[in-house]
Parts: sequence; C-alpha cells; structure tokens
Amino acid sequence: MELAIFGAKPRFEKAQPVGFPLVESETERRFHELVDEAFRRNYLTNDGPLVRRLEDEIASRHKCAHAAFMANATLAQLMLMKALGLESGAVVVSADTFISTAHVCEWSGLTPVFADLDPDTLTLDPEEIVRLAGPDAKAVIPTHVFGVLADMPRIMELSRARGLQVVVDAAHAFDCDRDGVSPGGFGAPEFLSFHATKFFSTFEGGAVLTNDEGLAKAMRDLRNFGFAGVDDVRALGINAKGSEISAAFGLASLPALAERRERLRAVHDAYDRELAGVPGLRRHRLDRFGRNNHRYYAVFVDPEYGAGRDTAVWALWHDNVLARRYFYPGAHRMAYYRDRTAYRNVSLPATDKALGSIIALPTAFDGIDWRDGVRGVSEILKTIHERAEDAEARRRSFSGG
Ligand SMILES: Cc1ncc(COP(=O)(O)O)c(C=O)c1O
Repeated sequence: MELAIFGAKPRFEKAQPVGFPLVESETERRFHELVDEAFRRNYLTNDGPLVRRLEDEIASRHKCAHAAFMANATLAQLMLMKALGLESGAVVVSADTFISTAHVCEWSGLTPVFADLDPDTLTLDPEEIVRLAGPDAKAVIPTHVFGVLADMPRIMELSRARGLQVVVDAAHAFDCDRDGVSPGGFGAPEFLSFHATKFFSTFEGGAVLTNDEGLAKAMRDLRNFGFAGVDDVRALGINAKGSEISAAFGLASLPALAERRERLRAVHDAYDRELAGVPGLRRHRLDRFGRNNHRYYAVFVDPEYGAGRDTAVWALWHDNVLARRYFYPGAHRMAYYRDRTAYRNVSLPATDKALGSIIALPTAFDGIDWRDGVRGVSEILKTIHERAEDAEARRRSFSGG
C-alpha cells in the first residue's frame, strides 16, 4: 500500500476515532423501550426508578455494596473530595491521567503533587507515595489507566501507614479487576466514568463505588445540592444527578456487555497477530494483573521502529486513523500546571518515557467490519516502518524543518 502522506488516497474513507461509541442495534432498541417507559411514568430525573435499578446493577457487577450514579466522573470526584473533607493540603496524583483528576484537586482547594508511573501498568508507582507525601499530604489518587488496575494493596498499605486517604480514578475500569478484586473492593472509594467513549456509557455519567454506607448516602445528598430531606440542606452540594434517560441507556447496554467485551478482545488478538512481526512496536499488555474490558489497545513505539512516535501518529491521521497519544504530555506538562513555579522542577522520567512512545489505536470502526479496520490500521503501521526514513523526511518538509 501507499501512505496518504505520500499523496495516496486515505486508507479509510471515514475518520476512525479511538473514542468511537459502542452501540449495538439491540442496545438502541432496548433504550427506546426504556425511554418510552420513563415518559409513560412521567419521571425523568431526581433519583428515579431507572437510576436506582442501574445503581444496583453497577454495584453487584463490581461486588460492591453501593454505587451512586452521578452526572459524570468529574463531579463524582469533586463530591467525593467534599464528602471526605479533603479541602486543603497536598494530594499525590498520578501524572498519567486525564486532566480532570488533577483539576478536581484544585477545585477542592488541594495542591496536586504529580507522581511517576509503573511502566508495566502505566499507573501510579506506589513507592512514589514514600517519595512525595510530605507533612501536608492528605490523600493519594491513583488512576487505573486503560482499565489496568493500579497496585491497590501496596497503595493502601503505604497510604494507611501515613494517615492518607485514598480516592481512585477508575474512569476506565468498568468490569475490570486485579487478582479478582474489582474497583471499590480495596477499601477506598473509586469513581467510574460513563462518558460516551467508554466501555460502558450513559452518554455522560459516572458512579462512585464504595462499601461505606455513610459515604454512599453522602454522595446521594451531595449530588442533589446537599438536600438531606425535602426542606433541609445540610451540606454544600451541587447538581450532579444523572437523568432517567441516561440511566435508560446504561440499562439498555448491560445485556450487550459480555459480547461487547469478547468482540473487543478479538480486536486485541487480531492486532497482536498483525503487529507481532513489526520491529519496534511493543504492545501494552492490559490483562497481566487481572480482567480488562479491552476498550483500549495501545502500543509503544521503540527506536527499532525507525520512525518516531509522532511521525507515526501524523501519518495515521492522514490515512484517517485518529490514533491518540494518551495521556500525553502528562498532567505535569500541561501549561496550566507546567507554567507555575511549584511545578517547574517536576521530573517524572518513567511518565515522560511512556507518554513519549505510546499510541492508542481504534478498537471499534465506523462503517466497516472490525476485521477490515484492524487489517487497515496494521497495514499503515507496517508501511510506516518500511518507509520510516521517507516518512520522517516527509514530515520535516511539511513542518518546514
Ligand atoms: C482517566 C479519566 N479520569 C476522569 C475522566 C473524566 O470523566 P468524565 O468525562 O465522566 O467527567 C476521564 C474521561 O473522560 C478519564 O479518562
């Protein structure tokens, strides 16, 4: 094949994003039935029957006593910080995360202290707690990147020994576990995201998983402005409720999840087979420590590939593969943090190395069979390797370098 960067027609007619929503026709049909039900009941939001049903389903799937459905993961985290009394001091946060994880700390009046990662999991290296938790540290926030769970037993041990609270960003980790333990089961509250691009979606949405009944109650009060009864407000809450329509989409998706996961796993296996012989492309293993939902597929670009990671991504985009560099360049290198004095000398070598070489590829495809999608993406990656020097030169000429 010829690459689009050399003037060929793009390999894919339609753009293929990493975050293509997963909606089966059966899911859509069930969704419409549940929405009709909600209209007939004339109950559209405010802790309705669909929200409660969804909460029970999510809790039992994660072997957790409580799930509180929220408008999104960002507000779930914000309300968790409020419920736990985390309002000042420092928080050790994984730098390899979506920016909201750090931003919510700032919104809560806390100072994020960025931690390096464990290259096997891309999640917070537990020993960073020893290095970074100073006298003003109050909490630790690991993120389960790509649904690979952080080393929670060690994180809990080190945090407890220092009197630190733990809140976990499990945005990617629906239906994932580590050695059989699901998010919410390690003794710390965790929050999931149900954004449209996630393995499990409610358009926008999220949930807090916890075994603490008091905390679950606090989350339900806080998501509803802090109302404790009809006329009594006891806390500084917010509007973080999820609607019946969102819950309907979640409930409609549940019966499809087993097959969805198998399909995504087949996509993984196909990528593994196609890319196995390509020098310098190393896959990120997602199921080494437990179950994964396989929503993401990621490879590291090592020097033997010939072309640099950014050249590969640039070429993929020209062929309509919207590959992503998750979570490049890391929260610590985003201008909002990087440009402040406190963050100027932050050095996280493992994070910089991983985020400087990773590419996330599409696992679902718009308008084509997934087998053709995987074959096409793999062909592009093989061709970039074969034409690495030309590809690098082409990119330099485009950027005027
Ligand atoms: C790791 C991570 N944390 C937090 C969020 C925020 O989730 P939400 O969009 O539901 O607020 C996301 C993505 O959306 C994410 O990927």
